Amino acid sequence: MTIQHIFVVGAGTMGNGIAQTAAVSGYTVTMMDVMPAALEKAQATIAKSVAKLLEKEKITKEQHDAAVSINAVANMDTLGKADLIIEAATENPDLKFKIFKDMDAAAKKGALLASNTSSISLTKLAAATSRPEKVVGMHFFNPVPLMSLLEIVRGLQTDEATVTAALEVGKQMGKTPVVVNDSPGFISNRLLCPMLNEACYALDEGVATREDIDTVMKLGMGHPMGPLWLSDMIGLDVILYVMEVLQRDLGDDKYRPAPLLRRMVDAGYLGRKTGRGFYEYE
Ligand code: 3HC
Repeated sequence: MTIQHIFVVGAGTMGNGIAQTAAVSGYTVTMMDVMPAALEKAQATIAKSVAKLLEKEKITKEQHDAAVSINAVANMDTLGKADLIIEAATENPDLKFKIFKDMDAAAKKGALLASNTSSISLTKLAAATSRPEKVVGMHFFNPVPLMSLLEIVRGLQTDEATVTAALEVGKQMGKTPVVVNDSPGFISNRLLCPMLNEACYALDEGVATREDIDTVMKLGMGHPMGPLWLSDMIGLDVILYVMEVLQRDLGDDKYRPAPLLRRMVDAGYLGRKTGRGFYEYE
């Protein structure tokens, strides 16, 4: 199937980044969120991002205009027009399963259903639909307009035509896609989150200050951001959830979430999005 129209469910950080990147890449895009405030914020974020990219001549005026005129909607009434639906809702399994069922019911025959989940099993999400072979993971990275990687996750039931279509969309969106088989945390979060979790243990144990832990990884390993700074950008709730999935589904306590990580989530210190995480934000 040729993909022309992409419908993005969820207008949060990842959803608006995916919608923007798809619009800039020539797709007709609809972005949906049930919360009007989230849609407004997403449109403002996209406008700011594409203004910056235009100023740096990374995109053309036409691409800029396509992104600022993304169709923003509050329900799935027009989802049936889309060839590919990408779910980018909050990382909450009950919510994602419900959204997947709704997407499946509203999507046209043959449309592909993708999830940007960072840890939920694609095989399980696929099994909740009437078209498991058309379900695939499209795991983008934050900030989506800048990060080149797209992890394409093949569930047990995903057919090759669906994987091929996802690869083509990823390439057209300017990403370098890699295909991984469904497994807890895929590759990205199986490697990244234990490192972030370990940084949290080291901070809690007083091994070094937050700044020094970040400096070690930036200057010693060439990472663009230190692990605690990056954790704040990703969201501590997301990291805690991924660690819980790794510990439970791989059955190994080496993935035990750091107690400090859990306490911070309990306190509502989720990182940049709440104004406080390992660091404080305006
Ligand atoms: N759109 C447009 N421009 C943007 C932008 C966006 N969304 N975000 C940042 N920029 C711009 C900045 O405004 C800045 O512009 P300026 O040069 O005019 O001031 C420019 O990009 C560079 O930004 P920075 O000054 O912050 O410099 P960096 O060189 O550090 O680049 C970065 C930013 C690309 C985000 C880099 O820090 C980086 O690669 N960080 C690591 C991010 C990462 O690891 N992401 C993955 C998270 S894991 C994930 O998402 C998966 C999930 O499942 C957990």
